[in-house]
Amino acid sequence: MCGIVGYIGDKRAADFLLEGLTKLEYRGYDSAGIAVNCGENIFVEKSVGRLDSLKDKLKYRMPGGVIGIGHTRWATHGRPSDINAHPHTDCNKNFVVVHNGIIENYMPLKEELISRGHKFISETDTEVVPHLLEEVYRGDFVEAVREVLNKLEGSYSLVFMSKENPDTLICAKQDNPLVIGLGKGENFIASDIPAIINYTRQTYILNDGEIAIVKKDSVKIINRRGEPVDKKIFHVSWNAEAAEKGGYEHFMLKEINEQPKAVRDTMSKRISKDGTKILLDELNWDKDFLAGIDKIYIVACGTAYHAGLVGKFYIEKLARKLVEVDLASEYRYRNPIVDEKTLVIVISQSGETSDTLAALKESKRLGAKTLAITNVVGSSIAREAEQVIHTWAGPEIAVASTKAYTTQLILVFMLALYMAQINGTVSEQRARELIGLLKKIPAQISETLSDVEPIKTFARQYGFNEDVFYIGRSLDYCVALEGALKLKEISYIHAEAYASGELKHGTLALIVEGVPVIALATQKSVYEKTLSNIKEVKARDAVVIGIAAEGDTELEKYLDHVIFIPDTDELLIPLLTVVPLQLLAYYAAITRGCDVDKPRNLAKSVTVE
Ligand code: G6P
Repeated sequence: MCGIVGYIGDKRAADFLLEGLTKLEYRGYDSAGIAVNCGENIFVEKSVGRLDSLKDKLKYRMPGGVIGIGHTRWATHGRPSDINAHPHTDCNKNFVVVHNGIIENYMPLKEELISRGHKFISETDTEVVPHLLEEVYRGDFVEAVREVLNKLEGSYSLVFMSKENPDTLICAKQDNPLVIGLGKGENFIASDIPAIINYTRQTYILNDGEIAIVKKDSVKIINRRGEPVDKKIFHVSWNAEAAEKGGYEHFMLKEINEQPKAVRDTMSKRISKDGTKILLDELNWDKDFLAGIDKIYIVACGTAYHAGLVGKFYIEKLARKLVEVDLASEYRYRNPIVDEKTLVIVISQSGETSDTLAALKESKRLGAKTLAITNVVGSSIAREAEQVIHTWAGPEIAVASTKAYTTQLILVFMLALYMAQINGTVSEQRARELIGLLKKIPAQISETLSDVEPIKTFARQYGFNEDVFYIGRSLDYCVALEGALKLKEISYIHAEAYASGELKHGTLALIVEGVPVIALATQKSVYEKTLSNIKEVKARDAVVIGIAAEGDTELEKYLDHVIFIPDTDELLIPLLTVVPLQLLAYYAAITRGCDVDKPRNLAKSVTVE
C-alpha cells in the first residue's frame, strides 16, 4: 500500500509530485522519493521518514525537468530506508520505476539478473523491474514494458520512466489502483484520486491488465497483447476529503471493504503453487525448533489480543501446542513463567503499542524465543523481535481496527498450519482441504460485504439501545468479543460478550424483554449447545439476531432475524462472522451521529502505558 504519482507536461514536475505525494501520505509514510528526467540525466532523490524529510532535502535543489514520477512507501519487502525507498533504477540509471504491490516471483528474477551481471542495491522486490527493462530494451519503450510485464507475477501498479524517451511515461495496473488525470497540455498519474483532484476531474481509471502510454498531449491505453482499449472518461464528482477515503464516507468503511484484498495480499506468496503447503519463508522452522518449545504465549492489546485468542484455538487444534493468551498490560507485570523453551508471539498492527513492546522486551530478558506479527515493517516491535511475519493490510487509519484483525487471523491460521505441517499433527488431506478453503476466503468476504441492507436496518432499529450482548461458544465467542469491542469503541453503546455457556452463571440476570442479543452460531462442533443457549435468552424475551452459516435451517425457526454468511470450515469462519459485526458497529455509530474514525478518548496507536 504505497502512493504513486507521475507528471508530464510543461511545468516543473517536482511541484506536482511533492503536492501529490502530500495528498497520498496517508497511504504510506515510511519513506518517499521522486525522479525527474532532466535530459542529461535522471535526477533521483529519496528519503526515509515522513515526506517532510524529502522536502527538506529538495529545498535548495528542486530539479527543473517537466516529466517525473514519485512515491510514498509503506514497506513490504525491505525495511524503510533511503535505499529501499522508490523510485528504483537499473544499473545505468536509464530507467526509473515506482511500484505499488508485491512482485511475487522477484527472487528467481533477481537471481537470474544478478547471474547476468546486474547490480542490485536495495532489498526490495521492485528493483527487479528496472533491471528487467534494461535487459529487454531495444529502442521500443512500449514493447520493452510489455515484455517486462509478461515476466512479472503478483500485484502491481507501476509507472516507468526512461531517459531516452523524455516524451513518455508508461504505467500498468494489476490488482492495485491507478488513475490518469487528463489535463490540457499536461497529464497526471496517481495511485489515488486525491493526488490529482486539485488539477483535473477528468480521469481514466485503469483496469487490471491495462497499460497506459502517457504523453503531455495524449493518453493511449492498450492491453497486455498490445491491442488498443477504448476507454471512457470518468468524471470525479467527489470532494477532496471524500476522494481520500476512496469515495467512502469514512476510513473505517473503506477499510472494512478493503478486507478481501488485504487478506489476499497477506496470504499470497505463502501458499505453495500446488496448494498443499504453507510457506513461511521468514521463519524457516523445523522439527527440532518446534521440539524445543514447550509453551507458547500470545501477547497483545485490544483487537490484536482478540486475534490472539483465535490464534490459541488454531495452534492448539492444529499444531497441538499449549498456548496462553495474555493482555500485554497484564503479562508484563505478572512475572510470567517464561524461559528459553517458551515462544512468545506478540501481535500488533502498529508495531508501536508500548505495553506490547514492553512485554516483548520482558520476554527476551527472560530468555524466550520471540516472534512478532505486525503490519508495519521497521516498527519498534518488528525491530525488537527475533523473528517477524508481516500482515500486508496496508495502512489502517480508522481507530477501530478491521482489516488488521482479519489479516492477523489469516497469519495466525497460517502459522498454526505451518507448525502442524512441520510436526505432522495435520494429515496431508486435511491440510489441502483447509488451504483450498483459505483461498476462497477473500471472495467470501466480498460476498458478505455485498449485502449490507439488513445490517443497516438492525443498526437503525437497535442503535439507540444502551446495552447489547454478544454470545457464542468456541471461536464464535472469540469473535463475539471483537464484535462487542467494535460497538463500544465507535458507537459508545455498552456492549458485552459472553461465552454462551457462562450466561447462566450471572449474565442471564441482565437479559430481559427487548434487550438486543447478537448470537453467533457457526461452530458446528458445539452447535446443539449453542442453540439451547440461544433458546434460553429467547425465553427471556430478548431480541435475538443470529449470525449463522448458509445452509443452517434450524436457527431461523427460533429467531426473528438471522444474518447468513457463506459457509466454510469452522476454523476459518471467524474471518467471515466478524464482517457483519464490524458493519453493525459502523452503522450503529452512524445512527447515533458518532465520529466513526476518531472515537472519543481513543487513539490509533497507544504509545503510552
Ligand atoms: C489501540 C487501537 C486498537 C488496537 C490496539 C492495539 O487501542 O485503538 O484498535 O487494537 O491499540 O494496537 P496494535 O497497534 O498494537 O495492534
